[in-house]
Amino acid sequence: MSTLSQDDLKTLVGQAALKYVVSGEIVGVGTGSTVNKFIDALATIKEQIKGAVSSSNASTERLKALGIQVFDSNEVDELSVYIDGADEVDHQGFMIKGGGAALTREKIIASQSRQFVCIADESKLVTNLGRFPVPVEVIPMSAQRIIRQFRAMGGVAQIRLRDGQPLVTDNGQHIVDVTGLQITDPLAFETQVSQWPGVVTVGVFAFQKAHVCLLGTAQGVKTLTF
Ligand code: 5RP
Repeated sequence: MSTLSQDDLKTLVGQAALKYVVSGEIVGVGTGSTVNKFIDALATIKEQIKGAVSSSNASTERLKALGIQVFDSNEVDELSVYIDGADEVDHQGFMIKGGGAALTREKIIASQSRQFVCIADESKLVTNLGRFPVPVEVIPMSAQRIIRQFRAMGGVAQIRLRDGQPLVTDNGQHIVDVTGLQITDPLAFETQVSQWPGVVTVGVFAFQKAHVCLLGTAQGVKTLTF
């Protein structure tokens, strides 16, 4: 029996997500390597949709290159579905997101959507959030104070670098990644950190949690509903 690679699992869940796309509508599209598989699958039914709202410049480029029209989120009201990956998802649909630095736009589109469909391979399913470093998008001048605030909570935080320099997000801000935290109450954590001055978005998605998770497993796609 041949075993499925992580890439195969991403392809499977990307294709399975097509079932949630509503004909004639605009679909919310996330960011990352799993979403790239979804975008490729979406291109095969592009005549059936009106277009997409995208959570990053990278996804926008890919969508456009495949002939899918991209709308600004301000041009549309509510979306029926938002499809995105996750760095971790727990058994209640709470997630850590932002490994691709797109968390702010991801949360905005998720909040505009009636249903969040998370697509992930089974390595992302966890009992407690916090093994993956929590990304936090911050206004650069607040970064060091926010790092100290996480230290006071028992975490270790550092500015994400790219080519030796602070990574600059699509919104012109920086990312702080936090390790060493056990997030036992995601709603409380998101509420607390979101209030710190300089925090643009915390990568814990508790208020914008997943409603469905399509999980790629060695036995095929498993559907978790929350
Ligand atoms: C980007 C994200 C991604 O959804 C998350 O990092 C998962 O990415 P991948 O599918 O490449 O593992 O939150 O900001």
